[in-house]
Amino acid sequence: MTDIKKGLAGVVVDYTAISKVNPETNSLLYRGYPVQELAATQPFEAVAYLLWHGELPTEEQLADLVAFERANRTLDPAVKTAIDLLPLEAHPMDVVRTAVSVLGAADPAAFDNSRESDVEKSRLLLAKIPAMVAYDQRRRRGQGLVEPRDDLDYAHNFLWMTFDEEPDPVVAAAFNVSMILYAEHSFNASTFTARVITSTMADLYSAVVGAIGALKGPLHGGANEAVMHILDEIGTAQNVGPWLDEALASKRKIMGFGHRVYKSGDSRVPTMKAALDTLVEHYDADELAELYDALESDFVSRKGIYPNLDYPSGPSYHLMGFDTLTFTPLFVAARVAGWTAHIMEQAASNALIRPLSEYNGPDERHLDGHVPDA
Ligand code: CMC
Repeated sequence: MTDIKKGLAGVVVDYTAISKVNPETNSLLYRGYPVQELAATQPFEAVAYLLWHGELPTEEQLADLVAFERANRTLDPAVKTAIDLLPLEAHPMDVVRTAVSVLGAADPAAFDNSRESDVEKSRLLLAKIPAMVAYDQRRRRGQGLVEPRDDLDYAHNFLWMTFDEEPDPVVAAAFNVSMILYAEHSFNASTFTARVITSTMADLYSAVVGAIGALKGPLHGGANEAVMHILDEIGTAQNVGPWLDEALASKRKIMGFGHRVYKSGDSRVPTMKAALDTLVEHYDADELAELYDALESDFVSRKGIYPNLDYPSGPSYHLMGFDTLTFTPLFVAARVAGWTAHIMEQAASNALIRPLSEYNGPDERHLDGHVPDA
């Protein structure tokens, strides 16, 4: 009997120098640095640089990236036209997937798979995705495009383009933390998808578009949206017990809990929970905080399954004012840093990713003269 590893669980498929997830010590390192330290001290742009290049930027290197990001924040006319053609009911993940695809199709350098060109495209995607996500939320609310501001950093400008009001520093700080925590997580499903596509020598945009598709599912990135739907459904802390009785009796997955790699807690959760706490205090959102705590403690005590990053990030994005449907596109904006780092790593020591399968269909058989009716 072939030993099938369903879902590739426990299978080590390659080396990576980008991040290390250690479930035993409950730690996550980006290029050796604990993610908590990065989240406490760095702007998201510096972390993206670290993921791409292996070292934190010097002052000059950061200034160069920041200047590039600020100069490339606008929504390209072709991308805006494409978004405008999509129905308002389109899921924002489908919108951002389409928008990135249009950006790639319009880039004459799309076919250049050199590292220099891929770094350039990675920087471009980092700069451009916020405009796509912000504009899509605005058009669904019947609001117009807000032009970016080059006096604001990435996090503040993202909020500005979404809400058209002076960004609140408390919100921007929590948002920056979320972007850093979401930026990278080794061989998760979407990153692996990007690496599979890259392994065929397809271009970086194709790999990112595929990764966005993989991220959409509720077992992966779509969980942050699903968490908010669950919290909305439960309503108040008092309803948690009966709601959980029913959900577990009907074998529902409780979104925002559990992880393929971490079995005793996700290393990113305490940092994001601290950011959520600042938002709860800032917005006097005690009822939401009570509901959050009640669901966590009841579910953990019943099942011993711990929250993952999507559990605190969902309500955090809600308090920041984002539509629930926009939560997973925010994850895209952050994870594009990790995806593109992996695309470049894969391309640098490529082997076509092509696993085997064990056939369990019918034995060989023949048509015996059977022809379809005319
Ligand atoms: N709610 C209820 N039961 C769960 C959950 C959950 N969230 N997570 C795991 N279980 C149970 C599962 O039903 C199974 O029970 P049994 O052995 O009785 O059939 C057992 O725990 C093992 O679960 P699994 O799904 O086989 O384990 P996995 O390692 O394949 O799952 C997971 C990992 C993330 C897919 C799963 O925990 C899950 O579906 N969680 C909810 C979705 C979610 O929050 N996803 C975000 C993942 S992390 C961040 C990200 O990538 O965005």
